[in-house]
Order: sequence, then structure tokens, then C-alpha cells
Amino acid sequence: MPTPDTSDELLFQPFKLGPYALPHRIVMAPLTRSRARQPGNVPSALNACYYAQRAAAALIISEATQVSMQGQGYAWTPGIHSREQVEGWRLVTDAVHQAGGRIFMQLWHVGRISHPSLQPDNMLPVSPSAIKPAGQAFIEGENGQGELVPFATPRALEIDELPYLVQQYVRGARNALRAGFDGVEVHAANGYLLDQFINSRTNHRHDRYGGAVENRARLLFEVLEAVSEVWGPDRVGVRLSPLGTFNDIDDEDPETTFAHIAASLSSYRLAYLHLVNPAMAALDKGIEPDSRSVAMVERMREKYTGTLIIAGGFDHDTAQQWLKQGRADLIAFGRKFIANPDLPERLRLRASLNKDDPATFYGGEAKGYTDYPSLAQDRGELPIPCVDESWR
Ligand code: PHB
Repeated sequence: MPTPDTSDELLFQPFKLGPYALPHRIVMAPLTRSRARQPGNVPSALNACYYAQRAAAALIISEATQVSMQGQGYAWTPGIHSREQVEGWRLVTDAVHQAGGRIFMQLWHVGRISHPSLQPDNMLPVSPSAIKPAGQAFIEGENGQGELVPFATPRALEIDELPYLVQQYVRGARNALRAGFDGVEVHAANGYLLDQFINSRTNHRHDRYGGAVENRARLLFEVLEAVSEVWGPDRVGVRLSPLGTFNDIDDEDPETTFAHIAASLSSYRLAYLHLVNPAMAALDKGIEPDSRSVAMVERMREKYTGTLIIAGGFDHDTAQQWLKQGRADLIAFGRKFIANPDLPERLRLRASLNKDDPATFYGGEAKGYTDYPSLAQDRGELPIPCVDESWR
């Protein structure tokens, strides 16, 4: 089969991201895989193998990584608050760099999306206000298996605790630097702590951190400023999910809320703003996105003057189309990267894609993690690395 000519496709054009020269526009989205070594939620050589297999991404954004025990919301997710975790992540960053890639760490505090069994001393999870989320927490059950249990009503944070919250992100950012990452992404999306402050339905505070959007976005900007002091702003990204409903989140006027945040972010000169595509569900189904979600993307693009990444629901053609229409600078792929370690090459060649297996998304070991074959492995040219037990 002749190789398609991709020389004029935006998806395959280089891009300058902060200090980094990216070879193309295909980013690996952050993906929770719940495979940190126990005890202690420590990244292992298996995790290093998984990320190194995907080093052909223009940029890898790590799975969401808790900045503290309080910031953990799911069983077996990795942290960046202990010495062992920093050493574990060093395996990952070394492996990715050796394979020629670049990797940012996503800094995460889940706020109310947690459970006392995951918290220090079995305390209640914290949130801007004491409002219980609908849905269930994913914890480790008695038998060592994953278990879904109802959420608890979180404890509302006192205003004098908020500087300590910022310090949790700072410690995570410093540790990420020590662990050899190329930058960090502050997770302010998908209904986790910073998003709980941003959205009016989860923030009923009457102090400087609640009410007007300037107040609801205050903690986000304090975190971004503090983390930028550690890394320099051009190696700091931020992720937002305007119009998102995941984790029982909602805002009375998302157009105003997120336009304010996007405009304010512009002056921070960050590496990028990363949006969870509000049109993801429609793109996934292959139908036209509704006008509100498209308008939201265009509004964010207009208000934010820096580099924009969009994640969610893309294939080769829609990614190329959105870049061409100027809606974003880089496109992030999640599920397709789970099943296709060499996704950029497959997109370039218009090769068929491996299908992902949702049963192995969370927890477990090499199966459904490091055993998806690349094209070279399909042709029998290379063995699939680290599917044996040698990583332990
Ligand atoms: C998840 O663990 O399901 C998860 C984590 C981070 C996200 C979204 C989902 O941003």
C-alpha cells in the first residue's frame, strides 16, 4: 500500500509548545489506569513501559496524579507526594525520554469525589461546600477488589485551609520537577476540586472564594501562579471542561464563567489551555455536535490567546478538520492511545486501529495495558515488551 502524502496535513505539522519542539499535533490525553504499585500508590517499571510504548505522541500528559493523600479519589491511582512515588515516576520519565518523548504530569486533587476509606485517618473528603455528589466512589474493597460505594457528604473547607491546598499543588509541582517531568498540567476539569470551586452548583461559599466568577476562579489562579513559580509558566498547562457534567458538576451560566477564566488565563503565558471537548459525545457517535458545545469551543478559542489543546471523540478526519478550521492547535486522543501505542504512525498511514477493551481500563496488570500491539509487532518485527513478569 502506498504511504499517504501527509505533508500538507496540519495534524502532522511540527508545533512549538513552550520550550519544546513537537514533531506533530497528536497529544496523548491523561488517562486513569489505576495500576500504581501497592502499598503507597507508587509508579512501577510496568507503568514506565506503558508510557514509553506511547512516546511517539507529540506530548504525553500523565494520568491524573494526586498531590496528597487528601487529593486521592480512586483506588490504586498514583501520587506525587512521597519519596517512593518520586523515584517511581523517575522510571517513567527516564523511559519516555529514552524513547524520544516528552511528558507532563497532571496534578490532581479530587475534592469531594472521594471516600473516607481513601482519606488520611478515614476523614471526610473536602470541597468548597458540603454538597454530596450523586454517584459512587471507586475504592478497594475487603477482598482487595475494586468496589463501588456511595459518596459521603464532604466537609466544607475553612478559608484558612486554602493556602495549604495551594501548597499541596506546589509540593506536587516540585516533586514532578525532581522526578524528571517536562512540565505539569493543573487538573481543573471533570468535577474535581478546582472545578468544584469554579462551578456555581458545587460552590455555595460566601467568602472571597464563592459567589462572583472572579471569586470562584480565585483558587485556580492562586494554584497556577504558585505552580508557575516552580516551573516557569511556559511549562505549565491547565485543563478545563466547560459544559461538563461528569462527577455531578453544573454551573448556572457556563458561557460567562468559562469566558472569564479563558480571558484571564491569557495573561499567564502558560504552555497551553487543554479543553475536554464539550462536543465529545456527539463526535464519538459520529453525529453533528449541538450548537452550544461548538459555540463554547469557539468562545474559548476567541478569549484565550495562547496554545489550545482539545481532547475527546476525535478520529483522523475530525482532528484534521478541527485544526484546519482553527478551533485548536493540538488534538489529544485518549481511548485510541490506550489501544494503539503507535497511534501517530497509524493515523499517518490511515492504518486500522486496535479496539480498546473497557474491562481492562482500571486496575490489573499488563493485560489491556502494555499488550496492545504496534504495527511493527503486528508484522512480527518486534516482540511486545514487558508483558512478562520481569517488570515486578
Ligand atoms: C477517572 O478516574 O475516572 C477520571 C480521572 C480523571 C478525570 C476523569 C476521570 O479527569
